[in-house]
Amino acid sequence: MAVHHLKTLGHVLVLNGPNLNLLGTREPEIYGHTTLADINTWLEKRADEADVAIEFYQSNHEGALVDKIQAARGNVDYIIFNAGAYTHYSIALRDAIAGVEIPTIEVHLSNIHKREEFRHTSVLAPVCLGQISGLGAFSYMAALEAVIDRLTKAAEAAATQA
Ligand code: DQA
Repeated sequence: MAVHHLKTLGHVLVLNGPNLNLLGTREPEIYGHTTLADINTWLEKRADEADVAIEFYQSNHEGALVDKIQAARGNVDYIIFNAGAYTHYSIALRDAIAGVEIPTIEVHLSNIHKREEFRHTSVLAPVCLGQISGLGAFSYMAALEAVIDRLTKAAEAAATQA
């Protein structure tokens, strides 16, 4: 986990839920060969370029994810979240996102809407800023680009007001 407190534009938390630690070896025909460490390395490089602080956390446990979201309150500007299977039924994670009021982008490697019916519903989507699904590892990159764009615009708006 890398946290760069000196970076100024903003702070992003990249959260991954159950089984995403197995990326690269888990059902590669669906999820690809890229590992979570590979994805995080790309994200960190891009965040560093943009002067955005980035932090990574993965857990297979719902309560640990809830704790991490709660702890992010006041410290994190955006969350990029692949909740894995919890996406489809965790009201606890939905309530945590809604409760901390941190804009959250839901991401999925696979296109959840063209898979089994039980994956078509996201209980998180209604409390998220948006959802990116089906672009493989690029789903995370696209989410980070959106966050960088928003943080840049917020910083510009703050600068013109000052
Ligand atoms: C996933 C899709 C979920 O349905 C599944 O349970 C996962 C991964 C994705 O990234 O495509 O664990 O979130």
